[in-house]
Amino acid sequence: LERRKNRLYQINREAARYFYYNLQKNSRGYNYFRKRGVSSNTIKIFGLGYANPEWNDLLKYLVSKGYGEEELLEAGLVIEKKNKNGFYDRFRDRVMFPIVNTRGKVIGFGGRVLDDSVPKYLNSPDTLVFSKGNNLFGLNLVYKNSKIDKILLVEGYMDVISLYNKGIVYSVASLGTAFTESQCKMLKRWNDSIYICYDSDDAGLKASNKALDLLKRVGFKPRVIILPDGLDPDEYINKFGKELFENLFTTALDYIDFKILYYRNKFDINTVQGKVDFIKNISQDIKNISSPVERDVYINRVSDEVNISVDAIKREIFGIKGIKT
Ligand code: UTP
Ligand code: MN
Ligand code: MN
Ligand code: MN
Ligand code: MN
Repeated sequence: LERRKNRLYQINREAARYFYYNLQKNSRGYNYFRKRGVSSNTIKIFGLGYANPEWNDLLKYLVSKGYGEEELLEAGLVIEKKNKNGFYDRFRDRVMFPIVNTRGKVIGFGGRVLDDSVPKYLNSPDTLVFSKGNNLFGLNLVYKNSKIDKILLVEGYMDVISLYNKGIVYSVASLGTAFTESQCKMLKRWNDSIYICYDSDDAGLKASNKALDLLKRVGFKPRVIILPDGLDPDEYINKFGKELFENLFTTALDYIDFKILYYRNKFDINTVQGKVDFIKNISQDIKNISSPVERDVYINRVSDEVNISVDAIKREIFGIKGIKT
């Protein structure tokens, strides 16, 4: 098993080198990144690449290097034809993002189209060496830098890259899946300074709420940054620059502030039903907080916010009047 894994690491490394080389010689891919403001140094640091448009370009290259088609299939780099009569490249005419684990091994890839076609991103399938929920894009660079004292959790490859490109070198992305407990554990050393900064659209807000709950549940102290105007971190930093981006940290929302904003956005607390829904939902969250002191602080904040008595909120949380707080 170890030998097969090492073989897949080798294949992925060879593919990453090849994609990188293609990007350097093919202006189509290179210009795509330059148009998005990515410097050649950032391209190098992330090992960004380009997959040629032909159906079996990588396949031919890796076979010429002595790799077998079956192991390329196992690495997720090729797909078997429907008629079982051979294989073709999974990634074609896409800019490529190597996913590197914390030990520096290339374990998989993301690939983006250069226009508006779909799917926008393709990722390696789960393999012997890659599982999406157990890795974070960008974490390899963060682990290498011992000076990093906080983590910014973002949604996408380009968020991590554009932030890095502008000097924000401590972001990681959850690879298009929901943020998982296993990903959480990889961030343990920064447990008191985790910032979530997802896209500021409905999906991003929902995902922020989920990530916040998960981080809170395992004992971290997460905060949330909400960008204006539906922007994502890549768009924001390219529009407003590093300094304004860094200012966002000073106004990041803590647990209860985010919850209040989130449910206020979801329910109209000027109606009776909206107020009831608000209280019911936020009470459920507060109930899950283990520290009684923290619960008390939150209950008071909510009471102020919606102008409802602390007693009523406590009843909602604990069911029976006057039971333990
Ligand atoms: P987004 O749709 O927010 O894309 O998806 P983006 O990162 O802003 O991409 P750009 O700026 O248009 O290039 C966020 C992340 O979700 C995953 C990718 O990891 C992406 O970075 N995703 C998205 C997929 O895996 N497949 C998709 O088709 C779309
Ligand atoms: Mn999005
Ligand atoms: Mn989007
Ligand atoms: Mn986005
Ligand atoms: Mn984007």
